[in-house]
Parts: sequence; C-alpha cells; structure tokens
Amino acid sequence: MGTGYFRRDLGAKIFLPALRRPILTPMDVLITGASRGIGRACAARFAQEGHRVVGVARSEAQLQALAAECPTVEPLVADLRHETVSGTYDVVVLNAGLFAPGRLLDADTDVFADTWQLNVLANHRLARALVPPMLARNSGHLVVIGSVATDYTLPHMTAYTASKKALRGLWEGWATDLEGTGVLTTLVAPGATLTSSWENEDPPPHILPAGEVAELVFRVVAEGLSGRHVIQASES
Ligand SMILES: NC(=O)c1ccc[n+]([C@@H]2O[C@H](COP(=O)([O-])OP(=O)(O)OC[C@H]3O[C@@H](n4cnc5c(N)ncnc54)[C@H](OP(=O)(O)O)[C@@H]3O)[C@@H](O)[C@H]2O)c1
Repeated sequence: MGTGYFRRDLGAKIFLPALRRPILTPMDVLITGASRGIGRACAARFAQEGHRVVGVARSEAQLQALAAECPTVEPLVADLRHETVSGTYDVVVLNAGLFAPGRLLDADTDVFADTWQLNVLANHRLARALVPPMLARNSGHLVVIGSVATDYTLPHMTAYTASKKALRGLWEGWATDLEGTGVLTTLVAPGATLTSSWENEDPPPHILPAGEVAELVFRVVAEGLSGRHVIQASES
C-alpha cells in the first residue's frame, strides 16, 4: 500500500478518495516557492485542472521551465525575504520555506535571520497583503505549508523548528481572525518529503513524494477543508 495522510483530529490515516466535487470554474491561485519541490508540484496540480497559477520564486529559469510545461502558470520572480506580492486570488498557498539543519547553539545568526525572514516574516507580509482582498469578496482559501516541526522539536534542526512553530502560531491567529468569514484557512503539515531540501542530508527511510503533499493541498481546496492536516509517509 502507498502513503496516505494522517488526520490527527480523526486519529486515523486516510487514503485519498476520488475527488467528490470537481472545481469547474477556473481559479486564480498564487503559490510561493513554486520553482521546485512541494510548491512546484502544487503549481502543476492546480494547472493540470486548468486553474491560473502565479508561481513565485527567485529562480526565473526554473519558473520559466514550469511555465513551459504548464501553460496556465505565470512566473513571478521575487525574493520574499525582501519583497512581497499583492493582488486578488481565490487561493493562496504560502509554501516557500528555508530548511537549514543544525543545532541552535551553533547556528550562524545570518542563517537564522534568513530562516526567520522567509518562514515567518515573509508569510506575515503576504497574509497582510493577500487576505484583505479575499475578505472584501468574502471568499478565498489561504493554505499554509507548515511541517511536523510545528508539533515536534526535530533534533538538530532547531532554527527551522523554531520558525515553523512561529508559523503555526501565525496560522492559528489567522484562523481566529477569519472565523465567521467566507475565507478559509488550512495548515498542511507534511513530514519528510523528497525535495531539494534533503540534498545535503540523509533522508529518512520513509519519505513522501512531493506530489502527495500537492494532492492533499489540492483536495483541501477542492473540498473546502479548513483546520490542520498532517501528512506523513509510513511503512504501511
Ligand atoms: N521537504 C520536506 O521534507 C518538508 C517537510 C515539511 C515541510 N516542508 C515545507 O514545505 C515547504 C517547501 O519545502 P520544499 O522541501 O519543497 O523546499 P525546496 O525544494 O527547497 O523549495 C523551496 C522553494 O522556496 C523558494 N524560495 C526559497 N527562498 C526563497 C526566497 N527568498 N524568496 C522566494 N522564494 C524562495 C525556492 O525557490 P528559489 O530558490 O528559486 O527562490 C523553492 O521554490 C517549506 O515551507 C518547507 O518548510 C518541507
């Protein structure tokens, strides 16, 4: 059997069923960190259904390659540590993140600052810019890519863990702020996923393909699911 996703709220592992409700109207989707890894897989999944995707990252060549494969993807080059993005979107996927392993005691302050800039402050700025237009229309979906590090302290990945716990705190605040509005927000918390994040590390034995996280993100939007969803590879 392949991988499924674990719904902590249900205490069960779920295998994704056939999509109940295809989304027929093309949506405008913004995905950060779309040049590779989970973000790229998300962009390709939404584009596969005909949705218009603005894919944000620093690497123009990688974004152009994605756009060549998926014609509804429009590249937007930005360094989110220093720039933000505005506009009106139906779906925003805050995915871009920096994974710099190491003990916090040894962490270079510049690396810690970069991690904090991208994983926390950039997402704060993006939410401040992108959620008000959703509220003005009283509809939209803000999906945040957290990590199992929002629950556990991953050994020797302390700067990353600290930033992801802060991101979870931000997301909980956004969820409270959006309660009772037509705007949904969802935290997708993946376990280890095979992407370039692991290129200098030994990946764990059970690791998710990026496409499975992208499938969950797509289903969360298609089914209108809010709340927190954990997805982890397992032996079964
Ligand atoms: N892989 C895992 O095991 C795993 C597990 C749990 C959670 N996650 C989370 O999932 C998300 C994606 O991870 P991933 O493994 O797919 O990462 P990845 O392969 O390293 O890709 C990171 C993406 O973020 C973009 N990015 C990095 N710095 C940026 C900046 N300053 N401005 C704009 N974009 C920037 C990168 O593009 P450019 O370099 O072109 O800018 C790239 O598109 C992250 O939030 C990560 O914490 C990953």
